[in-house]
Amino acid sequence: MQTIIHKNAEQVYDAVTKQITEAVRIKPDLVLGLATGSTPVGIYSRMVKDHQTNGTDYKKITTFNLDEYEGLEGSHPGSYRYFMNDKLFDHLNIDIQNTHVPSGTGNLESACKQYEKAIENAGGIDIQLLGIGINGHIAFNEPGTSFETETHIATLTEETIKANAKFFGEGQQVPLRAVTMGIRSILKAKKIILVALGKEKAEAIQKMVRGPVTELHPASVLQRHPNVTLYLDEEAASYLK
Ligand code: GLP
Repeated sequence: MQTIIHKNAEQVYDAVTKQITEAVRIKPDLVLGLATGSTPVGIYSRMVKDHQTNGTDYKKITTFNLDEYEGLEGSHPGSYRYFMNDKLFDHLNIDIQNTHVPSGTGNLESACKQYEKAIENAGGIDIQLLGIGINGHIAFNEPGTSFETETHIATLTEETIKANAKFFGEGQQVPLRAVTMGIRSILKAKKIILVALGKEKAEAIQKMVRGPVTELHPASVLQRHPNVTLYLDEEAASYLK
């Protein structure tokens, strides 16, 4: 695991954006795994700016998002499909047909299987962008999730529901379940970039990097992947010293 520590969030956003946009320029048909949450927002806004300024071309790119809430249509402002369109896809010259976010509605079981197949058919994910939950979850793989999981329906912990309430309007219930790529699906990515910012992530990062590899701290499994780079600000890295 390679760890890159920057002074602040702005510098982390710049560095990760550079990695992604360079990869797109080198491989125009890159398969990119994308994440949601507050952490990637600064990266997506920089990708949009880079596209407008430098013309980085997304015409042939394929994307796969990690997860989606159960029961939310893509038109729901709390859904991850809405988030991705709003923050990124609507502002790039990407073919929206080539952007994949798991469906939160319809027959979820068969959609999960199809999602794995679609990733495989695209040739696998070249670069997977990841955030981390304060309890060590990656995507919506909560503590206790088997390392053998592929795309599946997950029950969210109270902690995660509370942390993600900020994306929902007042009085709006955060869905209790989600469709998420599994640990095994994530580990299949050729390269993984995990981004963590702020003091509240410091403990999760410390356990991920230095702790035992255990299903109780899902991100710790990344110790087993041969090509992981962590981009941290000083606060998120503060327990590593
Ligand atoms: C959600 C997402 C995760 C993300 C996490 C952290 O639970 N499913 O993929 O990593 O939030 O979010 P934030 O960046 O807002 O801390």
